Amino acid sequence: MLEIGTGTGYNTALLAHRTGPDTVTTIEIDQTIAAQAGARLDAAGVRARVLTADGEHGDPSDRRLYDRIVCTASVRRIPPAWLRQLRPGGALVAPLDSPAGHDITVRMTGTGHGSAAGRPVATVEFMRLRGRRLPRPHTDFGWPAGIDAQRWRDYEVHADQHGQRILLRTGSA
Ligand SMILES: C[S@@+](CC[C@H](N)C(=O)[O-])C[C@H]1O[C@@H](n2cnc3c(N)ncnc32)[C@H](O)[C@@H]1O
Repeated sequence: MLEIGTGTGYNTALLAHRTGPDTVTTIEIDQTIAAQAGARLDAAGVRARVLTADGEHGDPSDRRLYDRIVCTASVRRIPPAWLRQLRPGGALVAPLDSPAGHDITVRMTGTGHGSAAGRPVATVEFMRLRGRRLPRPHTDFGWPAGIDAQRWRDYEVHADQHGQRILLRTGSA
């Protein structure tokens, strides 16, 4: 399993508790934070792989396939590297910036060939992934103009190597 945004390492420890030793790779962009999390995890006897890197690029080796990818910072677009590194049928969970006035947690399923599709499952607020903070219109990230904020559950998210499209599900009136 791949986690982006190690932070304190608390979530990493929970994931490793669920999935077992040496099953979790976690990526943190801040070297000091990553080192502190690594030390905490070691002290707690949690065996996880802690990397310092820009998680937007996923696992820096870009060779592994993951059954699960989870991000604990929000993104405006599901990064192509995550889609490439997600096993077909695998699950990707991430907070997605939305024009509804809050982020939405999306749960997506890998469809193979570097793409995934899924639905919003919750509203949430997270710090944004570093490097993704300059203001840009939501339409640049596949959102239709003028969404109905009350209907955030009724959208579906399709993402691939070229971008993402967020569409109102047909029959969701
Ligand atoms: C909300 S915190 C994560 C909390 C963490 N899951 C925990 O259990 O403490 C988000 C983390 O993502 C990190 N981060 C921000 N941008 C990042 C990026 N591009 N790549 C990797 N980590 C990033 C931040 O430094 C911060 O530690």
